[in-house]
Amino acid sequence: MKQDDIAWLQCISCHTTYSLNYKGYVCEKCGDLLDIVLDLERVKVRDWQVFRERPRGVWRYHELIPVDPSRRVTLNEGGTPLIECKKLSRWAGLKKLYIKFEGVNPTGSFKDRGMTVAVTKALELGVKGVICASTGNTAASLAAYAARASLPCITVIPEGAALGKVFQAIAHGAVLIKVKGSFDQALRIVFSKAEELGYYILNSVNAWRIEGQKTLGYEVAEEVSGEYNIFIPVGNCGNIAAVWKGLTELKNLGLVEHTPRMIGVQAEGASPFAKMVEEGWETLRPVDNPQTIASAIRIGRPVNWKKALRAVKESRGDAIVVSDKEILEAQTAIARLEGLGVEPASAASVAGVRKAVEKGVVDPDEATVCICTGHLLKDLNSELFKPKALIEIEPNEEELVRGIISMVL
Ligand code: F0G
Repeated sequence: MKQDDIAWLQCISCHTTYSLNYKGYVCEKCGDLLDIVLDLERVKVRDWQVFRERPRGVWRYHELIPVDPSRRVTLNEGGTPLIECKKLSRWAGLKKLYIKFEGVNPTGSFKDRGMTVAVTKALELGVKGVICASTGNTAASLAAYAARASLPCITVIPEGAALGKVFQAIAHGAVLIKVKGSFDQALRIVFSKAEELGYYILNSVNAWRIEGQKTLGYEVAEEVSGEYNIFIPVGNCGNIAAVWKGLTELKNLGLVEHTPRMIGVQAEGASPFAKMVEEGWETLRPVDNPQTIASAIRIGRPVNWKKALRAVKESRGDAIVVSDKEILEAQTAIARLEGLGVEPASAASVAGVRKAVEKGVVDPDEATVCICTGHLLKDLNSELFKPKALIEIEPNEEELVRGIISMVL
C-alpha cells in the first residue's frame, strides 16, 4: 500500500490536510503546527504479536510509521531498557518507579528515535541538506544521522550548550554555528535561513521527528500494564506530545486498555509550559531569559506548546516545576542508588515525581515511569562530578592508602 493511502499531514487548528510529500513545517493557511494522522482503519495491525516477532527498536513498529522503508537511515535506535528502581522509588515516596533509560540510544538521547524517521523522510523528499537549532542533543543526533545519510548538516547552538553534545556534532562532521544568545534565538535564525539555503529543518516542529519519538510511547505501553503515570522532562514540548501520540494510537487500535497520565516537568527558571498548565492559561507566556542548570531544557518559547497542552489535557495529566537544586539531588540519587547515569534534564523527571508525591498530585500507590532522556556523560557540568574523595599520592606513598581508605569509608 502507498504511504499516502494510510496517512496525511493535518493542521492541529484548522484541520487543513496535506499530502505526505508536503515540505513545509506549518499550515499554509493558518500557520499552526501539523500532525501526521494515520488512518488506523487501514493499518492492519490488531495484536502485539506482529511487533514482537521483530527485533526491538523504532522500526519494529514500521506499519505505524508512514515513510518509504527502502531508504531507512538507522543506527538501531530505540528498544531501550525499562528499569525498575526500588531504592529510588522509596527515595521519591512511591511504590513502584521505573526509569525508561533513553541514554543508551546510539548518540545517547531519545532524539535518535526522531532522527531515524525524519532523516529517512529528508532523503525521500530529496533535500539538499539538514539544519537544526539545538541545546545539544538534537545537534549530536542530527549530525550522526546526516553523516550516515551523506547529507550536509548545519547545527546552530546557543550559549551554554553542554560540551559533550557539541563535540559529538563536530565529530560527525556538522557545521557548527554558535549563537551568542538563547536556544529560542538560535531557532529563529534557523527559521529565517533554512529556506534560502534550501536546507530541511529537523527541529521538533517537523512532524516527522514526532513520528519517530512516538515509539517511546509504544515501548512503554508494551512493557507496563494497568494504571500508571509518565513523568517526562519538557523543553520545546515535542517529546511529551510524541509519547502521547503513540499511546493514543495504540488505544485507538485496541492494543492497550489504559493510557497513562502525562506529567510534564520543567525547571524553575525555564517553565513557561508548566506555568501555563498550573495557572490554567490557554496561551503560552514566553520566558525571555530562561535559566537552569539543565541546559537541554533551557527554553523560553517552546514551539510545540499547543501539542503538549493537548497531551496533558487529554491524558488528565499535569505539569510540575522543580528547582535546579531538586534536579541535582535527583541526578545524584539516580546515579548513587541505582547505578544509572543521566544528564540533569533527564533527572528533572525523577525530581518531578518526588515533588508530585509531596504535593499530592499523584497517588503513591500508582506505578510511575520516568523518561530519562539523555546520558550522564553528555553534560559534565554537575555537582555530581565532585568526587566523594580524591586524594593524589606518589607511587612510594602506598602505606598512605590504608589510612585514606579507613578515613573515607
Ligand atoms: N531531555 C533532554 C536530554 C533534551 O535534550 C531535551 C530537548 C528534552 C529533554 C526536552 O524535550 O524539547 O521535546 O520537550 N532537547 C532539545 C535539543 C531542545 O536541542 O536537544 P522536548
